[in-house]
Amino acid sequence: MGREGRPPFRSCGSRPRLGEICVTPDWSIKCLVPDLPAPEDILPYLRTMHDNRWYSNFGPLVNRFERDIAAFLTETDGRPLHAVAVSSATAALDLMLRAADLPEGAHILLPAVTFPATILTVMNAGYTPVIADVDPVTWDLTPAIATAITASMPIAAVMPVAPFGYGLDIAGWQGFRGDTGLPVFFDAAAVLGQQPVSADMPMAFSLHATKPFGVGEGGLMVTGDADHAARIRRIANFGFDQGVIVEPGGNSKMAEYFAGVALAQMDRWPGLLSRRRALYQFYEKTLAGHGLGDMLRRRPGGVVPATLPLDTRGRARDLMAAFTARGIQHRQWYLPPLHRHPAFADCMRAAETLPVSDRLNDSLVGVPFHGFLTETDIMTVCDTVRTVCA
Ligand SMILES: Cc1ncc(COP(=O)(O)O)c(C=O)c1O
Repeated sequence: MGREGRPPFRSCGSRPRLGEICVTPDWSIKCLVPDLPAPEDILPYLRTMHDNRWYSNFGPLVNRFERDIAAFLTETDGRPLHAVAVSSATAALDLMLRAADLPEGAHILLPAVTFPATILTVMNAGYTPVIADVDPVTWDLTPAIATAITASMPIAAVMPVAPFGYGLDIAGWQGFRGDTGLPVFFDAAAVLGQQPVSADMPMAFSLHATKPFGVGEGGLMVTGDADHAARIRRIANFGFDQGVIVEPGGNSKMAEYFAGVALAQMDRWPGLLSRRRALYQFYEKTLAGHGLGDMLRRRPGGVVPATLPLDTRGRARDLMAAFTARGIQHRQWYLPPLHRHPAFADCMRAAETLPVSDRLNDSLVGVPFHGFLTETDIMTVCDTVRTVCA
């Protein structure tokens, strides 16, 4: 432990560039460690790619990944799905919104507690984001919240987010869609592999290195509509159709290299998920042993989240200070809420104040959660939580 209760710091080695912080905390327990396939797992796919001499533009590995992942995902009513592999979840959201063909400036409702890509894609598509507060128990924009808001202000579409990789209430959103007729686009970035999909409502997933189903960079758009998938694929490739541009697009394609990593990661997924589930359950048991079980969000459907926020009920700063003093890395994922970012301070809000999101900003702390943790690590984390929150 360093002096004055700070964790020991390590020089970053190389000469710092202008404005770069040149020391990094030497955390004894890291918050997130990516778990991606080893080179030997990827190599067979890279060999196939090289033998094919096909490196991008809807190559055989991308086609195979799209087919395999669409077959692997569960559709709520057993209908077939179509997956489009792209360069990131941000690109998938962007493509979904462009293909929505809503009027310029249309109001899109989204939650305050999310990663900024959610609102950025809405703004970049020329729509008007409307920031909503979240549910105090599930920390997300629920169908009930959206129903109340759409009854009192003009909303053209809703973009719910699976917060922290906890699952989305698909049945509830199907009901919302049936009742209001409004389109729903899901930002399910952090929950690939565990989230059922509805064929009627497109869903975006991330393959970023920090996600449980990490590939490096990459994203997926999943839909039940083959024509919609074909259009998304076309806009992801400049808007080309048979050699001419039929509508303006860009370049968001997934390269064969990443599809190779994605296929290798699919092979590992059952093992990855069961390790994460065991660690989550150990957290549950240890926190419950300290009488702190209610700091975890409830998990309908038993989804194992991507990150693990604990609700300190207003003691986030104290817990973060205690973690820092013990060299435990932590992170306030998806916080501050969107309306607290300078770039979004002037964005429209569904209500003047967003008290639940503001409370979560003072309360949620993401604790270390990744496949390389040991039970001793988890006991150390929970013991620190106990000293502050019990
Ligand atoms: C809710 C949410 N939306 C979008 C993104 C962006 O994903 P990507 O990095 O693949 O663009 C993330 C990534 O953290 C996310 O958590």
